Amino acid sequence: MMANPTRSKEEPSLLSIAYVSVADPMISEKDISRLVAQAQRNNERAGLTGALLFNGRNFFQILEGPEAKLEACLQIIRMDPRHSGMVEVRRRPVDRRDFAGWSMLFHHVEGEYVQDLERLAARGTLDREDERMMTNFLALGNRPRA
Ligand SMILES: Cc1cc2nc3c(=O)[nH]c(=O)nc-3n(C[C@H](O)[C@H](O)[C@H](O)COP(=O)(O)O)c2cc1C
Repeated sequence: MMANPTRSKEEPSLLSIAYVSVADPMISEKDISRLVAQAQRNNERAGLTGALLFNGRNFFQILEGPEAKLEACLQIIRMDPRHSGMVEVRRRPVDRRDFAGWSMLFHHVEGEYVQDLERLAARGTLDREDERMMTNFLALGNRPRA
């Protein structure tokens, strides 16, 4: 067996990507919990981890995992009619996962999941830039609806 001096071989070429999108305005709470359950089920199988934030209008998602699996999943997500206008805001190779143990952490601005993200942030292990983007995204959703 060959030694790999740069990274532990179980996680070759880990990639992390972040995107924002516009949720279908007709999407319901029920649709969203179904979506999250579906994402968690698939991601577990594919070895993907990450976080999905919803502010009532937009999604912000960070997905991390082996490059090929990640790209395949993103292609499917891009076609999903439950949202549109997907814009990738960050893409980078990573040595380790920020959301290890989360097949998909879900955070709804008005929901009951707030603590998950806060607990994770409190560990101080989140990438600074990702944390900043998530904080800004959540702040954006905190304004009253027109
Ligand atoms: C905002 C958003 C985020 C999603 N995130 C994921 C995800 O992380 N993993 C995933 O497998 N599917 C995700 N999906 C769902 C996929 O688009 C697709 O519906 C699903 O993977 C199909 O799963 P199935 O083949 O088991 O029906 C997401 C969809 C939306 C709208």
